[in-house]
Amino acid sequence: MSVNLLLGLQWGDEGKGKIVDVLTQSYDIIARFQGGPNAGHTLEFEGIKHVLHTIPSGIFHPKAVNLIGNGVVIDPVIFKKELENLAPYNIDFTSKLLISKKAHLILPTHRLLDAASEASKGKAKIGSTLKGIGPTYMDKTGRNGMRVGDVFTKTWKKRYKTLVKKHLRMLEYHDSALEFDISELESEFFEALGILKKCKVVDSENYLHKAQEAGKKILAEGAQGSLLDIDFGTYPYVTSSTTTAAGACTGLGIAPNKIKEVFGIFKAYTTRVGSGPFPTELFDEIGKQIAKVGHEFGATTGRARRVGWIDLVSLKYAIRINGVTQLMMMKGDVLSGIKTIKVCTHYKIQKKIIDYLPFDIQSESVTPQYVDIPGWEEDLTGIEEISELPKKFSDYIDFLEKELQVPIKIVSVGPDRKQTIFR
Ligand code: GDP
Ligand code: IMO
Ligand code: MG
Repeated sequence: MSVNLLLGLQWGDEGKGKIVDVLTQSYDIIARFQGGPNAGHTLEFEGIKHVLHTIPSGIFHPKAVNLIGNGVVIDPVIFKKELENLAPYNIDFTSKLLISKKAHLILPTHRLLDAASEASKGKAKIGSTLKGIGPTYMDKTGRNGMRVGDVFTKTWKKRYKTLVKKHLRMLEYHDSALEFDISELESEFFEALGILKKCKVVDSENYLHKAQEAGKKILAEGAQGSLLDIDFGTYPYVTSSTTTAAGACTGLGIAPNKIKEVFGIFKAYTTRVGSGPFPTELFDEIGKQIAKVGHEFGATTGRARRVGWIDLVSLKYAIRINGVTQLMMMKGDVLSGIKTIKVCTHYKIQKKIIDYLPFDIQSESVTPQYVDIPGWEEDLTGIEEISELPKKFSDYIDFLEKELQVPIKIVSVGPDRKQTIFR
């Protein structure tokens, strides 16, 4: 049986959570493959809004099993809060939520190290969510990390203490003005860890192999976006995991030849939260309008998201890297009322017109080359059928589809589950 994959093609917050929730009815298993509580995936239905950070976005459906894969990093403290937020919904977590033994744990000192590292960078800071993501993945690849399965072993406490001792020394090196009470942080951490230990912890790769053999339908859920990928993103302004398609193989133990459809999600415009290059960024009134109408504030940190026009150069790059087979366009409704919409088709660098992402778009001055597309006036948020879409909006979709050479199969016109149009 095959596995389908869903991931973001921009700098995150494309609307992955919403679409995973919409698609879950057709799947048996939703498996998150990377990232951690830096993610904020928003779901809206029946007038309620939910933001998930670690728990996969299929959790509200009665049947689907939601698996937190080995590629994910888990902060027990945030995980506990997520469970508490879900308490009113009578979800049977024992049957519906599985955690990989190989997922790594974010320790309180990882969070402190993240903060100290960012503070030491000054103006060059990444704009991290400060959830401890970078330091945790560093310990993973440095072979010092603590995995969920480790906490059930006898030697765990000793290894934990050794690692924390090292972290505290590293904090001294950073010489930051960070104030913290380690015993307070640890008591919060260990209490939350107790809750996590009660969850169903599994050998997730085996579970998924058996599920595939049994013909179960699996959807792998990505976090962040392709332009935040550790290798292919706008380095160093990226996150510390593989957000692109390959991350589903390493983050779940799924073989590449088992992946069938790759769903690539993008907004009808672009946003970015945190530092780093953003060639099509808007600093004018239109940018402010898009940010306001689109409620462009980070789901995890509440920070204002930077806003800009759609960028086909980076979208084509992300489509190629991920092998995207179907596109999903989000938030078209936000652009209603804008007279002329700009679409970046090329970059100009030192008088040269290029259609690819250069090595370092930070240091080179990139001038986006735009095509003007007439905007539409109509409110899209109540539209349910493809045939009801205004002509100019359909023309915008057709233009993008022709440029990107991949079919746009879903058009989202609002945050609610129901505001989803299949093409
Ligand atoms: P994710 O991280 O990719 O899951 O995306 P986020 O949840 O961080 O950000 C997407 C935001 O846009 C959320 O507030 C969603 O509720 C909202 N959203 C999703 N799709 C649409 C849409 O089509 N139109 C509008 N107006 N909002 C949307
Ligand atoms: P979802 O899954 C948007 C950004 C941060 C920062 C950089 C590194 O909701 O799309 P990190 O905390 O990983 O060290 O931050 O990556 N970032 C995100 N931006 N959406 C996300 O996740 C993000 N996760 C991290 O703002 O610029
Ligand atoms: Mg988000």
